[in-house]
Amino acid sequence: MELLIKNLTKTYSNKVKALDDVSLKIGVGMFGLLGPNGAGKSTLMRTIATIQSPDSGEIHFNDIDVLVDQLSLRKVLGYLPQSFGVYPKMSAEQLLNYFAVLKGVNNKAERKELVNELLEITNLLDVKKKNVDGYSGGMKQRFGIAQLLLNDPKLIIVDEPTAGLDPAERQRFLNVIREVGTNCTVIFSTHIVEDVRELCNDMAIMNGGKILKHIRPVEATKEISGKIWIKAVKRDDLEKAEQKHNVLSSNYNVDNTINIRVYNEKKPGLGFKKTEPQLDDVYFIALKEDQKK
Ligand SMILES: Nc1ncnc2c1ncn2[C@@H]1O[C@H](COP(=O)(O)OP(=O)(O)O)[C@@H](O)[C@H]1O
Ligand SMILES: [Mg+2]
Repeated sequence: MELLIKNLTKTYSNKVKALDDVSLKIGVGMFGLLGPNGAGKSTLMRTIATIQSPDSGEIHFNDIDVLVDQLSLRKVLGYLPQSFGVYPKMSAEQLLNYFAVLKGVNNKAERKELVNELLEITNLLDVKKKNVDGYSGGMKQRFGIAQLLLNDPKLIIVDEPTAGLDPAERQRFLNVIREVGTNCTVIFSTHIVEDVRELCNDMAIMNGGKILKHIRPVEATKEISGKIWIKAVKRDDLEKAEQKHNVLSSNYNVDNTINIRVYNEKKPGLGFKKTEPQLDDVYFIALKEDQKK
């Protein structure tokens, strides 16, 4: 199973180039699309989901030519957009049952079993009688997953599903995605590095409509092993350090000093200690190197 994206471009009428020659090959498993706001993530996902057309390029999912045969793609697609409309005043159980009728599951007993299974997978059984309308953000996102699973999708696209969720809700959501994403291709966009670290076996970093890096998270941290250095500096010295070194990030300590993380081939100077690379470092390096261009 493979999703192949070739040379996708898209410029909006306001001249913003949201996709700038995007090419990607995505296999089975969890793929994280990581990038800041405005990177082009939603544009890319809507394009793959056939909601909007690119200016040029190609998309193939297995033997489906996606931009030519949109209908075939939609049959195997489960898409959860970044924001979706309001729900009618119906319980999760009623709504799913209704969607199952629309999908053509005509046998009542079969439908009941299906709905029950979806509620169980998405951890919504104990709130199945409540109106989806009144659900919390995290519950709504999980309901969105239950809904898209009705399609038995081979390709699942979820656009920034963890944005705005509190830590507990976020964790519950990641658990659900982890469970449903085993036999298909899941593309998951986020601006939170932690999401990718916890969930994805492959990832791409995107900004300014471009794919800056496509690499497996484990390989990504290996690549910069031995090149990440930390040092505690005084608050007043931060600016100087940022001018002198390739500072990726900084964190306050309780004693009001600041730990800076620096990316450098060799020890950058006195007082620096080598430290284990993290996925955040990979992300910041990619964004910084792009800024320099
Ligand atoms: N319909 C649109 N019309 C004009 N510009 C848009 C439209 N949608 C998105 N953009 C712009 O395209 C860029 C990429 O947006 P988007 O794909 O939403 O990125 P992301 O999902 O990574 O935040 C942004 O600069 C955004 O303002
Ligand atoms: Mg978006």
